[in-house]
Amino acid sequence: MQPDQTVLVLDFGSQYTQLIARRIRDNRVFSVVHPFDLAVEKIRELRPRAIILSGGPQSVYGESAPYCSREVFDLGIPILGICYGMQLTAYLLDGGVEAAMEREYGRAEIDVTAESPLFAGTPAHQRVWASHGDRILREPPGFRVTASSPSAPIAAFENRERACYCIQFHPEVTHTEAGGQILKNFLFDIAGCTPTWDLGDFRRRKVEEIRQQVGNAKAIAAVSGGVDSTVAALLVAEAIGDQLTAIFVDNGVLRKNEAVQVAGRLSDRLGLHFIAVDARQRFYDRLAGVEDPEVKRKRIGNEFIAVFEEEAKKIEGVEFLVQGTLYPDVIESVSIKGPSAVIKTHHNVGGLPEKMGLRLVEPVRELFKDEVRQLGIELGLEEEFVWRHPFPGPGLAVRIVGEVTAARCATLQIADEIVIEEIRKAGLYREISQAFAVLLPVKSVGVMGDERTYENVLAVRAVTTTDFMTADWYRMPYEVLDRIARRVVNEVRGVNRVVYDISSKPPGTIEWE
Ligand code: XMP
Repeated sequence: MQPDQTVLVLDFGSQYTQLIARRIRDNRVFSVVHPFDLAVEKIRELRPRAIILSGGPQSVYGESAPYCSREVFDLGIPILGICYGMQLTAYLLDGGVEAAMEREYGRAEIDVTAESPLFAGTPAHQRVWASHGDRILREPPGFRVTASSPSAPIAAFENRERACYCIQFHPEVTHTEAGGQILKNFLFDIAGCTPTWDLGDFRRRKVEEIRQQVGNAKAIAAVSGGVDSTVAALLVAEAIGDQLTAIFVDNGVLRKNEAVQVAGRLSDRLGLHFIAVDARQRFYDRLAGVEDPEVKRKRIGNEFIAVFEEEAKKIEGVEFLVQGTLYPDVIESVSIKGPSAVIKTHHNVGGLPEKMGLRLVEPVRELFKDEVRQLGIELGLEEEFVWRHPFPGPGLAVRIVGEVTAARCATLQIADEIVIEEIRKAGLYREISQAFAVLLPVKSVGVMGDERTYENVLAVRAVTTTDFMTADWYRMPYEVLDRIARRVVNEVRGVNRVVYDISSKPPGTIEWE
């Protein structure tokens, strides 16, 4: 399902590649990300209105430097090259590039030195965010230089006949003060796009597409209680009604009252054909005595599949499985994956369709998370729900360091609820990307009244991040920390000490396990 106007982002490995695509969509122009070496034939088939060459960590002279075909520049499609994309343009179109000894990274300032449609309506002197190793020595023949900075005398060049524009900085990040305007100039004035990408329209077309795909067959959806699987199920329900059964498994490591809330939301309020399975004890049995985080994840994943399969078998004639796969899961990423991608076996419903012989329906696989949230609102979900912080598939199990038991889960659920409640009351919930409590297998001495206590330690974690690959610890106001700590110690039996986690990612991860 491709809208009539698409901007193609070729990914050369920058950590910002997806951000470029999201910024384009913020301008209501559809965008897709493909690896840098997408065949020219395929590019033609996509018929993009414009092509953006992303940044990337390499030097064009690097041993495994990523190149696109030179033909990309001869397709007659407007091009915007960013950082590495600019160096590659210079390199492939016979300009001059040298590998610099040092990388310029971070804030920089540029002067716009010639009139240019790309810089229209932006200041002559502007702050930008740079990240590049190579230096441009000479613009390619036929191009002219339009901006410079003290460390990069050629900070932008362009060739209007070719509609090829390049910049040595990142317009997609907020630190580039005129980045939004520069992208707009490129999309609308240079490439002639119109702002027509619309989620309401997406919804109507997707519903029609699902009807065609599923016909009269039956489908099942695994709803986790999270935003993605909920929105996916609602879209499919809009298309095929009660031919869809949503299955929710209570694995015992959910947030407090989550099971009741999910049932209320999906079944009572939104009318989904819904089955809730209370499998708490089964999961606790599988987790008994297990301390290794990876074993926890595997056991929870496998048990989930077992429970889900049993339930699915009870429904006759199911042919389709609905999954809330998002666009970032689909993009074949060129960038080096963060350590968490390698270290953790993420718990997904992966493996289910093959095992059960079901065909997949993935109604939100073209969408970014922010778009799924917006669509959720359109489909009748509450604002508070769609903006929830992410919650890992293995749930509280990876926030209970050491063995998971029903009792320890209950303790953490209460503490977690207090943390979130206080953050919400302080009006900080949306500012924080993810906040939660972690129950440690550490006991410490305390006093309560005249009594000496010897109880557990609870860690509070709150981070800000845009992509969850890197994250900074949140500078939580002391008053909020104070309220959390007091309430936890007073209200949560078995906890007598609260600590705040001030590690960033990397080197820490967001979760503790
Ligand atoms: P880390 O801890 O790797 O977390 O920095 C990054 C993001 O991923 C979430 N996370 C998980 N999500 N299954 C999931 O579905 C998992 O096993 C898992 N481990 C981490 C984490 O909550 C954070 O948002």
